[in-house]
Amino acid sequence: MRIDVISAVPKILRSPLRESIIKRAQAKKLVRIYVHDLRKYAEGKYRQVDDKPFGGGGGMVLKPEPMFKCIEKLLSKRKYDEVIYLTPQGVKLNQRKANKLSLSENIILICGHYKGVDQRVIDKFVTMELSIGDYVLTGGETAALVVIDALIRLVPGVLGNSESALSDSFQTESKFDAPVYTRPAEFEGMKVPDVLLKGNHKEIKEWRHKQGLKKYRKVKK
Ligand code: ADE
Repeated sequence: MRIDVISAVPKILRSPLRESIIKRAQAKKLVRIYVHDLRKYAEGKYRQVDDKPFGGGGGMVLKPEPMFKCIEKLLSKRKYDEVIYLTPQGVKLNQRKANKLSLSENIILICGHYKGVDQRVIDKFVTMELSIGDYVLTGGETAALVVIDALIRLVPGVLGNSESALSDSFQTESKFDAPVYTRPAEFEGMKVPDVLLKGNHKEIKEWRHKQGLKKYRKVKK
């Protein structure tokens, strides 16, 4: 899977993409992530990427020219399954959408900033407007990181145990994971449930299922 991220503030993206599982997925060549600095596609002395909105009003709008240049360059090189614009007005990301998107070969993520991106970019290139939740972030970069994280962990081989992603709470019927514990078996007077220490896998499975349901009912009350 290849992900191209277009951003006016690429610094926000670079460090998180160099850590942990995202880093490992790239090192294993299971995922390739390229961050494109919008400013590099801008013209003039100040390489301006944004401008005031026509018709007035506050905030700035990302200009169409640098976006067009960057997207057209990418589209000329390979076919993309989706060109995604991150916006709170988009369809909401959920596990089902993440599963589907994780099967993509190539995707582009466009990060909005300030007031958003010139509508002509959306009209010309965007195949999906995607939101990570009903709240407004200062830019699409943090949303892009959420999307990248949700997708790449579903790519086969990215997680150490290939079953981990499929056994996530959101992939199973019960919707909620059972509580998890690690050593020590007793800490500050709090004990790990006996069933987990005894090694009877059938009992452990049943216990986990029940606990998941219990948590589900508590949250849904
Ligand atoms: N940009 C700003 N807020 C956002 C959100 N909630 N989801 C995706 N992109 C955004």
